[in-house]
Amino acid sequence: MAGIFSGKTVLITGASAGIGRAMAEGAAREGASLALGDIAETGEEVAAALRAKGAKAFFMRTDVRRKSDIDALVARAKSEFGASPHIAFANAGIEGRLAAPWEPTEEDVLRVIDTNVVGAWRTMAAVLPAMVERGEGAIVATASVAGLVGAGGLAAYVASKHGVVGLVKSVAIDVAKSGIRVNALCPGMIETAMVDRLADDMPGFREALLALKPMGRLGVPSEAAEAAIWLASPAASFVTGHALAVDGGYAAQ
Ligand SMILES: NC(=O)c1ccc[n+]([C@@H]2O[C@H](COP(=O)([O-])OP(=O)(O)OC[C@H]3O[C@@H](n4cnc5c(N)ncnc54)[C@H](O)[C@@H]3O)[C@@H](O)[C@H]2O)c1
Repeated sequence: MAGIFSGKTVLITGASAGIGRAMAEGAAREGASLALGDIAETGEEVAAALRAKGAKAFFMRTDVRRKSDIDALVARAKSEFGASPHIAFANAGIEGRLAAPWEPTEEDVLRVIDTNVVGAWRTMAAVLPAMVERGEGAIVATASVAGLVGAGGLAAYVASKHGVVGLVKSVAIDVAKSGIRVNALCPGMIETAMVDRLADDMPGFREALLALKPMGRLGVPSEAAEAAIWLASPAASFVTGHALAVDGGYAAQ
């Protein structure tokens, strides 16, 4: 398939569902060869559906809390496609439970930080050495509008996503002279299983959210994914260290 990612190997974590799946579909449309990782085995179906449309894609069970899993995903991308990733979407993330700040256990908080911030770092660390050697690359980490402003009831999640934005800014500076761009995607609330889980935690959550939305609606996964694809594309060649809100105007209030 011809497109802006023709001849490029693209790695995506959290690719089995939601925004990650939409990133995979968008990148496949743009001609990418796709290395998809997730802890949910339904990623096999995502990869099979993309192959059925003519894309090159494989899925591998990958837990971003394990460096060895991400290294294995990168190694398989190189062996299947002949090139380590040119582009990486560090997208896997979890929300934790809606709760007062003192309610979660230390284990709950560490799991959110480990998955969201350290997982993004592990993904960057796994793909960057080959990108530096090549003198070219783009990374987009999925942060959140909760990486730009606070949100009640999700202290660990908000802390983790502010961490992702900080990580992106710092790494972007470190690798800018190597021809690599690193940006953060900051979606507002997007209709995925994540929002369904939060709504299950708290009756009235969805209605309360809608009341805060300038556009009066949540986003859909492709609206977040297309912004990430733009950030990773040559059209964004002078954009790095940026945190792009894709939130229907939420953070503008
Ligand atoms: N949906 C929203 O409103 C929203 C808003 C802002 C940011 N985000 C962020 O977008 C990203 C994608 O979320 P989504 O809304 O598509 O949610 P989702 O739950 O539909 O998808 C997240 C995917 O990540 C995977 N995952 C979870 N832990 C993992 C791990 N340890 N290793 C590998 N994969 C793992 C899940 O299995 C799932 O397939 C997350 O980083 C999330 O924080 C979502």
